Amino acid sequence: MNNGRIFNFSAGPAILPDSVLETAAAEMMNYKGTGMSVMEMSHRGKTYDAIFEDTLAKLRRVMAVPDTHAILLLQGGATMQFAMTAMNLLPIKGKADYAVTGSFSKKAYEVACSLDMGACRVACTSPGLSPDFSVQTSIPAQGELDLDPGASFFHYCMNNTIFGTAWNYIPDTGDVPLVCDMSSCILSAPLDVSKFGLIYAGAQKNMGPAGLTVVIVRKDLAGHAPKNTPNMLDYAVMIKNNSMLNTPPTYSVYLLGLVLDWIENMGGLAAMEKHNVGKAALLYNFLDQSKRFLCKADKGSRSIMNVVFSTGDEEQDKAFLKLAESKNLSTLKAHKETGGIRASIYNAMPAEGVKALAECMKEFEDNA
Ligand SMILES: Cc1ncc(COP(=O)(O)O)c(C=O)c1O
Repeated sequence: MNNGRIFNFSAGPAILPDSVLETAAAEMMNYKGTGMSVMEMSHRGKTYDAIFEDTLAKLRRVMAVPDTHAILLLQGGATMQFAMTAMNLLPIKGKADYAVTGSFSKKAYEVACSLDMGACRVACTSPGLSPDFSVQTSIPAQGELDLDPGASFFHYCMNNTIFGTAWNYIPDTGDVPLVCDMSSCILSAPLDVSKFGLIYAGAQKNMGPAGLTVVIVRKDLAGHAPKNTPNMLDYAVMIKNNSMLNTPPTYSVYLLGLVLDWIENMGGLAAMEKHNVGKAALLYNFLDQSKRFLCKADKGSRSIMNVVFSTGDEEQDKAFLKLAESKNLSTLKAHKETGGIRASIYNAMPAEGVKALAECMKEFEDNA
């Protein structure tokens, strides 16, 4: 920690690497001799064009995105993708399967249903949480998926930010394309992108500031939206215009480029995975032997990005949050849907932050 910075466990917008912020600060007033900030540049100019193209190339390299897939840098957040995926990939009178395993996948399903395109169906769910933690939440196994081979796609959310659960396998849906919300886990580990029809993610957890949404779409899946689809919501139009039908979120794209440099310097996604698995293990190992804290996620379905836990008592949770805050461990209050405590430990959270949190949990437990 330096510059008075604290350990920020926010679920998003979330912590960014210090070195990224330092580079952005150094380049703020005069980007590479242009005499202006990246924020002030025309998106049609030569300098910005290089930033944009370079960021796209780095993302393709870091994630090993095959040529079969286009990368789009859009706006509207992951929430807009709840609608856009269905508008583009679900033919009127077609069918789509949805895995409802958390809050955002439920929202995606509801938005798709509301569009009145084809028929959306729940292909699987997770058991809900009970306030006393007697029911743990988990991700269904492959054998529990009720798959429709005639569906146009199978939509799921890989990492459930609110519940702290994650799909620790890629579902096998045969020829039915996978459409996946990776907002809270993108860039956290290596991924076989070729297995997906479409991936989308809001940037504000592992990629940069809010305002940017990354979409990686298999090219053959674009171009089938109904004729009355607004151009901004049509993947084919966005592919044709290289995501620049209108002004893109220029500064957020630049920051994504800096974050990708940082990931490459750290050793790429394999190194990220090692770093993240190690941090998560520190917290889960403590939770599994703790007499005071309970973990909400089932062992086989745990997220390495969002660790959700509680003492099971609201007042005790509050006391813990107060102790943590006093040690500069910030934004640990969980979402109101689960209650309790949530440590979001995205790529940029250093191991020292997680160690400090584990020590704080031990201190709280020892002083019970
Ligand atoms: C998994 C997931 N999906 C979707 C969203 C919604 O994202 P946005 O606010 O970018 O629309 C979030 C936000 O936290 C999320 O965690």
